[in-house]
Parts: sequence; C-alpha cells; structure tokens
Amino acid sequence: MLFNPKPKEDPKDLFDREKEIEKLRFGINYPMTLLLGIRRSGKSSLVKVLMKEEKGIWLYLDLRKFESSAYISYKDIIQELEKSINTSLPERLKKVFAGVKGVNFVGVNVIFNWGKERIKLAQILDKLSEIAEKEGERIIIIFDESQELRKLKGVNLLYPIAYAFDNLKVRFIFTGSEIGMVYDFLKLDKPDSPLYGRAYTEVNVPPFSKETSLEFLRKGFEEFKIKVEERELEDAVNTLGGIPGWLTYYGFNYIQEKDHEKALNKTVETAISLIKKEFNNFLKGREGAKERYKTIMTVYKNGCKWKEAKIALEAKEGVRIDDKRFTQLLNNLVKASFLIKEGEIYKPTDVLIEKAFS
Ligand SMILES: Nc1ncnc2c1ncn2[C@@H]1O[C@H](COP(=O)(O)OP(=O)(O)OP(=O)(O)O)[C@@H](O)[C@H]1O
Ligand SMILES: [Mg+2]
Repeated sequence: MLFNPKPKEDPKDLFDREKEIEKLRFGINYPMTLLLGIRRSGKSSLVKVLMKEEKGIWLYLDLRKFESSAYISYKDIIQELEKSINTSLPERLKKVFAGVKGVNFVGVNVIFNWGKERIKLAQILDKLSEIAEKEGERIIIIFDESQELRKLKGVNLLYPIAYAFDNLKVRFIFTGSEIGMVYDFLKLDKPDSPLYGRAYTEVNVPPFSKETSLEFLRKGFEEFKIKVEERELEDAVNTLGGIPGWLTYYGFNYIQEKDHEKALNKTVETAISLIKKEFNNFLKGREGAKERYKTIMTVYKNGCKWKEAKIALEAKEGVRIDDKRFTQLLNNLVKASFLIKEGEIYKPTDVLIEKAFS
C-alpha cells in the first residue's frame, strides 16, 4: 500500500526508484556504499526493499534513536550490533563467537562486553567475515542515519571499518539525511583519515519530479478506489514538493479525513513541527549560536546569496560578523541539509523547510 506511512519493505510497495535500486545492487558487491537523501526521501524504504530482494546476510542498525543525543558511547554501538546479530543470525551461525574474549552467551543470544574486558569492533567484524566465508554469502551491515556515528566518543570507528574494507568479506551501507555530516564522519577525502582514497558507490535519493509526484498520488488513491480531483492533487504537490514521505502522509490523511484541505493542512502542520524538532536536534551542542542559526534560516527562506544574508544578519545583530565565522555557520546548515547551494544561491532544501522558517 503506497500510503502506508512506515518505511516500505515489500518491493511491490516501492514506487519508482528502479535506478536507485539498480545502483544499490551494484554497490553491495563492493565494500562500501553511501545512500544519501534528505529527510523522508525514502532511504530506509530502499534498503529494506533491497534486504528483501537480495541474497545475503543483512544486519540493520537504526541509529535514528541517537539523533537527540549529544554523544554516543562505545557501549551504544556494541549493543546495537549485538541486537542486530541476535535478531538476524540463526543460532548455528552465532556459534562463531563462542570462546571469543568479551563474548558471553545467554541462551542462544550473544552478549558483548563493553567494559574492561570489552570486545573489539574489529573482532566482531572478523567473525562476521568468517561467517560470510563459510556460508559463501555476503554480509552487509547497514548503518541507517550514519551521520549519528560522528557523535561517538572515545573510539574511532574508521579504523575497524578501513580494516574490514581492506581485509574482510563484510560490506557496509551508510545512509544519511544530513548529507554533509556523513562525509564529515567518513572523511573519505581527508589524507590523514583511515578511509582516505577508498572507492565507494554513492546513491542519491532525490525528491520525485512533479510528474512522478502526481503519478504517485494517483496510484495511491487508485489502490483505495478513491477519485480525487486533479486540481487537488496539483495543489498537494505544489504545497508539499516531491518528498515521498510527505506525499505518503498526505494520502494517509486524506483516506481518513476524506477532505483535501484538512488532509493537506494536517500534513503541513506535522511536517513543520517535525522539521522544527529536527532543527532543535541540530542546535544541540551549538546553543551558543542558536539565535544566529535561526536568523540565517529565516533570511535564506526565499533563497539568496552569501553576501545578502550576511548583511541581513549584521543588521539584525547591529555588529560586524567575521566572514569566516559566517561561512562556517552557513556550511553547517548546508551539511545538515537544511540549506542547499545552487550556483551562488543558498536556499531551503525543500518547500516545507521554507515554510517552517516563514
Ligand atoms: N519510493 C517510495 N514508494 C512508496 N513510498 C515511499 C517511497 N519512498 C518513501 N516512501 C514513504 O515515505 C515515507 C518515508 O520513507 P522512508 O522512511 O523510507 O524515508 P527516509 O529517507 O528513511 O526518511 P527519514 O529521513 O525519516 O529516515 C514512508 O512512509 C515510506 O513508506
Ligand atoms: Mg530512514
């Protein structure tokens, strides 16, 4: 059902995206794939459908739960891995962990120690690779919303990932809605980083075009045998843009409300409050510049050049702002995918972000 508001898992429910799935299929034959797209563009749906369609041993880690945390500990990551191993691997395969330092078994479940006798991530990856070797299967680990990993304190995940990249049969998919933050975490282009220069496949998940968005809504309503006027569909797409998540939510609301205006308003309201919540998460640890970030978003809501926004911010604060500092603030908003740069113009990544700051 297209208007199901959860990430799709059944290939039949995935609309469009043939190109993206094809690229992902190619990517998972190699060590590292990046799956990037702004919030609610459909990244989780793509990986979940892929997990259903493609043979392999899949471990899925949902890091979204850490989005409001200021930092993540080694324990958090180890526990997430433990959970996905326990849910995805049959008992028979978990046996490779027997006798490994830092591993206990409780019934059929593996328990990883994170304290003094802690297990090393490289060791877990080693053992997973051993399974892949034995089974003649690929093992694919998905870090969904991987930009959260940049908050990890006390250990550098990039070393074990680079080790696995070079030596093991483990493959990784890193998804991210804060696109620049994913690059910041992986540091693929930083010469002194463990992952420097490694080849990877990048799959981008853009919003639907206007025509595809309309087609998506028509098909979704057809499933319910509901006839909605073209004028209303146009209005929905013009208001919501091409992000599948918001189109889905509109359809879902319409089915319940049986009224275009009501469904649309509810969708916009929900989208705006979610965007605001996400913006507040972004401000965590950046409290000192909170007002400046808000002002910058408001100034850029209709799109403008670097200089115009800087002048506006200075006018509001009544002080001169250092060029470098201003650029840094602006780049952080771009990295978190609240703003996008097109030519010389910076603007909100989609129409609903624009509305959230109006
Ligand atoms: N290609 C698609 N076909 C049908 N529905 C889709 C498609 N892409 C996304 N959706 C729907 O849009 C919503 C958001 O999708 P999903 O959760 O996969 O996106 P996401 O990019 O992972 O979002 P988030 O940034 O919130 O994690 C879900 O309700 C999903 O069912
Ligand atoms: Mg997701």
